[in-house]
Amino acid sequence: MRALTWQGFEDVRVEDVPDPTIQEPTDAVIEITSTAICGSDLHLYRPLAPFMEPGDILGHEPMGRVVAVGDDVRNLAVGDRVVVPFNISCGSCHMCDLALFAHCETTQVREHGKGAALFGYTKLYGHVPGAQAELLRVPQAHFGPVKVPDGPPDERFLFLSDVLPTAWQAVAYADVPGGGALAVIGLGPIGQMTCRIARQQGIERVYGVDLVPERLAMAQRHGAEVVDLNDTDDVAAALRALTSGRGPDGVIDAVGMEAHGAPLASAMQRATGFLPKAISEPLSKKAGIDRLAALRTAIDTVRRGGTLSISGVYGGALDPLPMLDLFDKGVQIRMGQAHVKRWVPDILPLLEKDEDVLGLGDFVTHTVPLAEAPAAYAMFQAKKDGAIKVVLQP
Ligand SMILES: NC(=O)c1ccc[n+]([C@@H]2O[C@H](COP(=O)([O-])OP(=O)(O)OC[C@H]3O[C@@H](n4cnc5c(N)ncnc54)[C@H](O)[C@@H]3O)[C@@H](O)[C@H]2O)c1
Ligand SMILES: [Zn+2]
Ligand SMILES: [Zn+2]
Repeated sequence: MRALTWQGFEDVRVEDVPDPTIQEPTDAVIEITSTAICGSDLHLYRPLAPFMEPGDILGHEPMGRVVAVGDDVRNLAVGDRVVVPFNISCGSCHMCDLALFAHCETTQVREHGKGAALFGYTKLYGHVPGAQAELLRVPQAHFGPVKVPDGPPDERFLFLSDVLPTAWQAVAYADVPGGGALAVIGLGPIGQMTCRIARQQGIERVYGVDLVPERLAMAQRHGAEVVDLNDTDDVAAALRALTSGRGPDGVIDAVGMEAHGAPLASAMQRATGFLPKAISEPLSKKAGIDRLAALRTAIDTVRRGGTLSISGVYGGALDPLPMLDLFDKGVQIRMGQAHVKRWVPDILPLLEKDEDVLGLGDFVTHTVPLAEAPAAYAMFQAKKDGAIKVVLQP
C-alpha cells in the first residue's frame, strides 16, 4: 500500500510499504477513505523529530470501511463505515472503567512511562503504524472504532477521531460557570471547534485569540469574538478589559509547544532536529523543548480562582512556569490527551442530525490525494493558502 512516512526533520514522503494484516484476534483492518493532518503531526514533523524513526507512518485521524476483522471482534463487520479514535484503548481495564481512555492499562507504553498507545505517534506511544495510508491495522478493534451511518460526506464524521472529542474535553475541563466567559488561545482546528462547541453549549461570551487572519475570520463566523495578536502586545490585558477587568472564567490553551513568540525555544527545537539521536533524544526528553508563549498568556489571562484547560501538547521536562502567579491566583489546571470514546456519546448525536450543528461544512479548507501529503504538510505548517484543516484521501 501507499503510506505517508516520516524520513527526517521536515521531510515526509509517500512510499510503498507492506499491507497491514490481522495480527491479534482483537484487530481489524480499515480501508481509509479520509485521514486528516493534525497540529500534533506538526510536532512530529519538527520538534519531536528525535523520537521518530525513518519510515514511521504518520497519522491518527482516520475513517473508512472495515475490510477484515479478527475472531474476537464481534461489534464490527466487513463493510461497516467507521471512524477510528486516535488513542488505542481496550474498554475494560481499570482506567477504561474510569473513562480515562488515554491511560488504558492494556495499551500503556510502560517502557517509556507513557499512557495509552496512539496511532502514528512515535515510539513513546507504542510505535503503532499511523493512518495517513491506504490501509490501517486497528488494535483493540472490539472497542475502538465508532460506527457511523452511510449518507453524509466523510467530513461530517471524520473529526470524531480527534478534533471534536479534544475540543469537547477542553470545554468540559474549562468548567465555565453559567453566565461566564471563555477564552480560547489558538484558533487552529482544535481552537475552532472548541469555540463552536462552547457556543453550542450555551457559553455566551467566547473569545478566540490567534494571529492568522483567516483563522480569526473563521472563528468570528461561528460566534466567537476575536483578539488579534497582531493588534496587541498584551493579550491578557485585552481580555481582562473585555471581562470587567477580571479575566475570563476559563481559558483554553489550544496552541501547545510550537507557540509563536518564543524565539529561544524555537531555535532549540531546530537545533535538536539536526543533532545525532544519541544526543537529541535525551536532550529533548529532559530539557525544555517547549515554546511557552501561549501557556504564559493563558496563565496571565485566566481570572483569579478560574480554570486553565490545556489541550495543546507539551513535551519538555524543565519548563519554567510562573508558579507564584499560578499559586497566588489559585488557578485550577486540567490537561491531557483527549479520552476520545468518553465524549463520543455526547458528540455523535449532534453529527447525525440533518442540520450541520457544528458547521463541519465550513472547516476543511483543503482535501488532497495522499500523494500530495508532503506538500500539504508544508502548507499546513506554514499556514499558507488559507490552510486550516487538511484532509488526505488515499
Ligand atoms: N490534547 C489532545 O488530545 C490533543 C489532540 C489534538 C491536538 N492537540 C494539540 O492541540 C494543539 C493545536 O492543534 P491544532 O490542530 O489546532 O494545530 P495548529 O498548529 O494549526 O493550531 C495552533 C494555532 O495556534 C496559533 N498560535 C500560535 N502561537 C500563538 C500564540 N502565542 N497565541 C495565540 N495563538 C497562537 C497558531 O497561529 C495556530 O492557529 C497542538 O499542540 C496539538 O498537538 C491536542
Ligand atoms: Zn490529531
Ligand atoms: Zn483499557
